[in-house]
Amino acid sequence: MFKPLYTAPALTLGSLGLFFWGSGSSAPAPAPAPPASGPPAPVGGGFPPSKPPTRNNGVTDPRTSAIVNPSDFFKYGFPGPIHDLQKRSEFVSVYDRQTRNPYYVVEHITPESLKKDPEGGDRKNSIFKEDEAIPERFRAHLKDYFRSGYDRGHQAPAADAKFSQDAMNETFYLTNMSPQVGAGFNRDYWAHFEDFTRRLTQQYASVRIVTGPLYLPKKDPVDGKFKVTYEVIGNPPNIAVPTHFFKLVVAEKSFKKSSGNDELAVAAFVMPNDIIPNEVPLTSFEVPVEALERSSGLEFLKLVPETKKKSLCGEFKCSIIVREFNNNVKALPAPKK
Ligand SMILES: *[C@@H]1O[C@H](CO)[C@@H](O)[C@H](O)[C@H]1NC(C)=O
Repeated sequence: MFKPLYTAPALTLGSLGLFFWGSGSSAPAPAPAPPASGPPAPVGGGFPPSKPPTRNNGVTDPRTSAIVNPSDFFKYGFPGPIHDLQKRSEFVSVYDRQTRNPYYVVEHITPESLKKDPEGGDRKNSIFKEDEAIPERFRAHLKDYFRSGYDRGHQAPAADAKFSQDAMNETFYLTNMSPQVGAGFNRDYWAHFEDFTRRLTQQYASVRIVTGPLYLPKKDPVDGKFKVTYEVIGNPPNIAVPTHFFKLVVAEKSFKKSSGNDELAVAAFVMPNDIIPNEVPLTSFEVPVEALERSSGLEFLKLVPETKKKSLCGEFKCSIIVREFNNNVKALPAPKK
């Protein structure tokens, strides 16, 4: 039977479970469905207001509108948030200017797309690039990562874009990167996890993967309060180091552009940004989609009826296969700045 090989608080599923399921227990791997009333979703977003401020069930109070007009502030310029959506060949990225990480990237892979272009599609021909579409003061910089101790971790992996050198090059924009623990995570367990998503194309004609960072609260052992703590790399500090990463995987048997009748095989995973021994089963990182929604603030597949969704791990073995070559490929030294 599997026994946890690590005990660091950030790694135990107990603390993850505490957040996702609101359980006070630190017992390993609680897996029940989340309770109807979980921790409240973080407050935020909602701008710009789609309507002027109203009271009394939507009727603008004439006395109020005569004396204040909060929305009028926007005539001086809309502060944001701006999400810097970038459409690349293999993925779409949505960037968070505050953390200098993606919010998420959405990929599409197929059995055909994973074939390597004989003329290119090699990561040796790509270099990491700052994304000049992002205003300078919100941009992630190469120098922020330099000597940070973290890998520039692809969210849409380079190996998912071997079908063309151009597509692979696009995965090297820093808007597709988050700081990831290198040895033991990005170059190991996470790489095997990415390989798992590619293996899904053996059974599914279309695989869509949403990947992104999370900043999850953890119980402070001193005062018992939940707190979000993360490092910020760069000098001056610029790029947040996520505490966790997620993937939502959506697999379909056929890839017909307009069919829309396919059932979706769905699974969501959350992993700590930390060393994970290869012995830890992949299924121990599976979480309910609703739990991922609550922790990310994102809504997934809300237009798909529940009857069309089924459990991916119920029909495909959710496990990693350790291939040591991943290690060598990802460990290519960073170019010296
Ligand atoms: C990929 O990036 C490399 C390094 O910047 C560049 O030399 C090469 O021309 C790019 N290839 C394509 C097809 O964009």
